[in-house]
Amino acid sequence: MNDLSLHILDVAENSVTAGATVLEIRVVEDPVADRLIIEITDDGKGMDEATLQAARDPFMTTKKKIKQVGLGLPFLAESAQISGGDLQIESILGAGTRITATMGYHHIDRRPLGDLRATITTLVIGNPKVEFRFSHVVENREYIFTTWEFKEKLNHTSLSSAAGIRALKESLAQGEAGLR
Ligand SMILES: Nc1ncnc2c1ncn2[C@@H]1O[C@H](COP(=O)(O)OP(=O)(O)OP(=O)(O)O)[C@@H](O)[C@H]1O
Ligand SMILES: [Mg+2]
Repeated sequence: MNDLSLHILDVAENSVTAGATVLEIRVVEDPVADRLIIEITDDGKGMDEATLQAARDPFMTTKKKIKQVGLGLPFLAESAQISGGDLQIESILGAGTRITATMGYHHIDRRPLGDLRATITTLVIGNPKVEFRFSHVVENREYIFTTWEFKEKLNHTSLSSAAGIRALKESLAQGEAGLR
């Protein structure tokens, strides 16, 4: 689990499991402020106090805990912390969850973003019932992709068809290219 985009894939899967209908993924690259922020927000079932507590606990506490709680969030927390940042988990039972990871942009141990496009493509294609909003900020530029706008553009072409997937990849590639 080296690239941040793989963390995003992993943590977004939690949202899908939690029954999210709208999932927002926001990546903010701010080299000037020396910050990289990843924010994943869902409208899923949320967590009760005990689950929230367990999810926030650092991993490696006990073996039992690892098994009960899983590793998705602790791994992201570790990636954030080794690069001078932290992980924040906010959740409201029955309303949704927001995971925010902050990192030092220039920190030597900061993981590379990796293939964000592949992550978004995998999530969108793999979860046709979930609506996604992906926003990516690099300095003063912002790219926003939403499945609802994209589906409208696709018109009658299905998102899961070969043509739909190709169009999705092209759209993301174009949007991302505009950021650099
Ligand atoms: N977005 C979310 N909405 C509701 N509950 C969540 C959310 N994210 C995490 N949780 C809760 O926190 C627990 C820990 O999540 P984490 O990703 O660390 O492990 P996991 O998903 O259980 O296992 P793994 O990711 O290792 O397969 C989850 O099992 C779930 O109960
Ligand atoms: Mg998980």
